[in-house]
Amino acid sequence: MLGTLKSQVVDLLKISGIDFPGLPGPIEAPKRPGHGHLALPVFVLAKEKKKAPPLVAQELAAQLASRASEFGIDKVEALAGFVNFHFSPRVVQDLLVETLKSEAGRFAFSSRGAGKTMVIDFSSPNVAKPMHVGHLRATVIGQSIVNLAKSQGYKVIGLNHLGDWGVQFGNLAWAYQNWGSEYPFVEKPFESLFQLYVRFHQAAETDADLARKGAETFVKLENGDPEITKIWKMVVEISLKEYSKLWGLLGVQHDLVRGESFYNDRLRDVEQRLEDKGLLVESDGAMVVRLDDEGMAPCLIRKTDGASLYATRDLASAIYRREDLKADLNLYVVGAEQTLHFRQVFSVLKRLGYSWWETCHHVSFGMYRFKDIGKMSSRKGNVILLDDVLSKAISMVKEIIEQKNPSLQDKEKVAEQVGVGAIIFNDLMNDRVKNVDFDWERILDFEGDSGPYVQYCAVRCQSLIKKYNRPIATKMKVDLTTLEESELIRSMLSFSDTVSTAFDHFKPHLVATHLLEICRLFNHFYSKHRILGEEEGLVESRMVLVAATQQVLSQGLGLLNIQVPEAM
Ligand code: ARG
Repeated sequence: MLGTLKSQVVDLLKISGIDFPGLPGPIEAPKRPGHGHLALPVFVLAKEKKKAPPLVAQELAAQLASRASEFGIDKVEALAGFVNFHFSPRVVQDLLVETLKSEAGRFAFSSRGAGKTMVIDFSSPNVAKPMHVGHLRATVIGQSIVNLAKSQGYKVIGLNHLGDWGVQFGNLAWAYQNWGSEYPFVEKPFESLFQLYVRFHQAAETDADLARKGAETFVKLENGDPEITKIWKMVVEISLKEYSKLWGLLGVQHDLVRGESFYNDRLRDVEQRLEDKGLLVESDGAMVVRLDDEGMAPCLIRKTDGASLYATRDLASAIYRREDLKADLNLYVVGAEQTLHFRQVFSVLKRLGYSWWETCHHVSFGMYRFKDIGKMSSRKGNVILLDDVLSKAISMVKEIIEQKNPSLQDKEKVAEQVGVGAIIFNDLMNDRVKNVDFDWERILDFEGDSGPYVQYCAVRCQSLIKKYNRPIATKMKVDLTTLEESELIRSMLSFSDTVSTAFDHFKPHLVATHLLEICRLFNHFYSKHRILGEEEGLVESRMVLVAATQQVLSQGLGLLNIQVPEAM
């Protein structure tokens, strides 16, 4: 939306005979209220002219003032090192109405990704282990980046790089063969699997021989032993079925499941490519790629017993994504603890001579911090399961509904939308690289910075629209000029820029925090001004504002993969 206003500023500069470098690049939306709709920082120009930025800003503002009104600009103002542009209410209102008409129900904020493919690897759990809250991040951050990319016109391939290969499947198969009959696999397949997993690791702590047996069993699996392969297949099936429940609840969908095992018959080719480039060297019987010159540990390609490794499969999968899936952008949404791993993999790709290594990004994130539970480990079994967290959120919301609004329709559905939405929003409102505090009170605080707060605001707009019960005007009848109205409009106009920046940095929290700002501004407007029951033209104009707010909020929540209930 702001693009239109930006080009007005560019035209004004041009017609005023000012040659400003890099336009429209530097033009931005000011963060502070009262600073107009757009701001042009003059620091670069000031440096060129060897003058103080405030002076340059003043000179520029004076030069631009005379013809500003031709471009719908009411005021050009110098403020420190910036020139600020205030557009007339009429111009911004028309823009809002236009957007409201053209973008109805669509996420298509931009088409700049048209013709490009983004592959994104997200929520890729390790088979046989329940997803814990750590996977929540990889899931919700990933899905929202999927949505953001689609909103920018990209073709997106969401990939599940399921952890379905590696020595732990030797362990598991061995455990199943020896202890499996003790567990209720028919009634509780997934729980049984996980118990086997925990038991093996506990037993291996005191019995050093178990690790060897597990490793041997894995080599058998790698060699295609039919008995072991059958167990492995069962393990994968049971797990995927379990995960699908949670993905369903979170509204997550992968386009392709490409587990680690998928790359088995591509690993030789990877080794061959490494050999051809003279990158593969022996180290204590294992094959590695040395990365000393970058101060990194070597990347392990093949173990002494011939088994492949996580990194080997990631090399194969990167090549697959580029060569087979034609990825222009290849993202890995994985926790910060795997930073070294991805640096190693990307470095090996670079050494292989693949310039596209630069299109690969590790989209990393921090951990959850709970008040009294330390770092979680699924080996020991003391984990906070994603399933439990989501069910608890839903049942807490149910209780709140029973207390506050017991006659609400579709209570179950609303509780699910609000409970799940609360968990997702709490995650996505934080810059992903930081740790996230997990605090039930804040997560479900309908008045604080929370998912329910934003959902509630959208619902409030919806019910106003329902009450109004007429088509929304396609032109503002009366100019909306109060501070509350102008600020709300200003914030909404820059929303699509936020979406685009959020995609550039793979940071959904920019969208989440912008939505919070819009809600705050809307509530402010709503508390200060009457909407229905005012004189005719004013009601119509204000309803345009309400409809626009509703639309931005529901599209924004949609980008975060959060639903808006009908009522709440
Ligand atoms: N399965 C891994 C884990 O849970 C994440 C996989 C991420 N993707 C990748 N291509 N390595 O830690």
